[in-house]
Amino acid sequence: MPKKFLSDFNIVSNDKLNESYFRLCIAYNGDLPTILPGQFAEIRVDGSSTTFLRRPISIHDVNIDKNEINLLINKVGDGTQTLSRLKSGDTLNMVYPLGNGFNLLSKGSSALLVGGGVGIAPLLYLGRVLKQKGVDVNYLLGFRSKKETIDLNDYNKYGNIFITTEDGSIGEKGFVTSHSILSKLLIDKIYACGPMPMMKAIGVFASKNNIDCEVSLETKMACGVGACLCCVTETNEGHKCVCTDGPIFNIKDLTWQK
Ligand SMILES: Cc1cc2nc3c(=O)[nH]c(=O)nc-3n(C[C@H](O)[C@H](O)[C@H](O)COP(=O)(O)OP(=O)(O)OC[C@H]3O[C@@H](n4cnc5c(N)ncnc54)[C@H](O)[C@@H]3O)c2cc1C
Ligand code: FES
Repeated sequence: MPKKFLSDFNIVSNDKLNESYFRLCIAYNGDLPTILPGQFAEIRVDGSSTTFLRRPISIHDVNIDKNEINLLINKVGDGTQTLSRLKSGDTLNMVYPLGNGFNLLSKGSSALLVGGGVGIAPLLYLGRVLKQKGVDVNYLLGFRSKKETIDLNDYNKYGNIFITTEDGSIGEKGFVTSHSILSKLLIDKIYACGPMPMMKAIGVFASKNNIDCEVSLETKMACGVGACLCCVTETNEGHKCVCTDGPIFNIKDLTWQK
């Protein structure tokens, strides 16, 4: 297993992006190790009497020159609420980089990065690295409504953006799988992260159209390093830990479509 680090980071900034999402920029006092798009960190939540276990959060972006990492977080419970109150100068302790990463396409190919809700988090860093490799990047991002969206200018640096909202308040109305762009783009590979029904629907689309597809699975996690077995998922080769064998899986290896 590649080396993991247990490190304190300084909070550089904490930006509120909408009613529920915030972005933490954290800096390490030293050189960051190699971090692959799709990997995550297990974050210690200090100051919450109800949050004992670390919380898994994807690497949203990496600035290797400044030794900074960005995290995009949705407030859903005590742990993430507590993290939302961190301010510049505070410390964040995390174990990272955990899990595998997305398998990257090579130069000249075309990728569709599909995100739903806060599942857009790992797709920013993925888009950055794919673009650096010379891959044509397209984002298809689904939200419940305009209120759930965030400023997508950073994503726009790496690829074209197509949006759906369930209520039609921005972009095309409906789910990502109903967006008109799907019938127009020539895609070599789909990368998806978001709610399970969205990823399963994208998986069906990919299979029907013979497109390679990787998804980032989200399960409840505790240790994050393959010891507690609380994150297992069924695959064609038996049960696997999402924290170490994943979170990225090729849909061909999952049992969804049986
Ligand atoms: C590999 C991986 C990467 C992740 N990356 C991110 C990320 O980049 N940004 C991010 O915001 N979240 C991410 N998550 C989800 C995040 O870990 C959980 O939302 C977080 O642990 C919730 O902690 P909490 O203490 O706030 O809520 P808890 O107190 O644990 O739960 C509060 C309530 O929220 C519900 N809940 C818990 N988790 C989720 C969830 N994921 N979605 C919806 N409802 C939930 C619970 O069922 C409960 O009702 C990731 C999860 C995994 C496994
Ligand atoms: S979270 Fe403990 S084995 Fe995956």
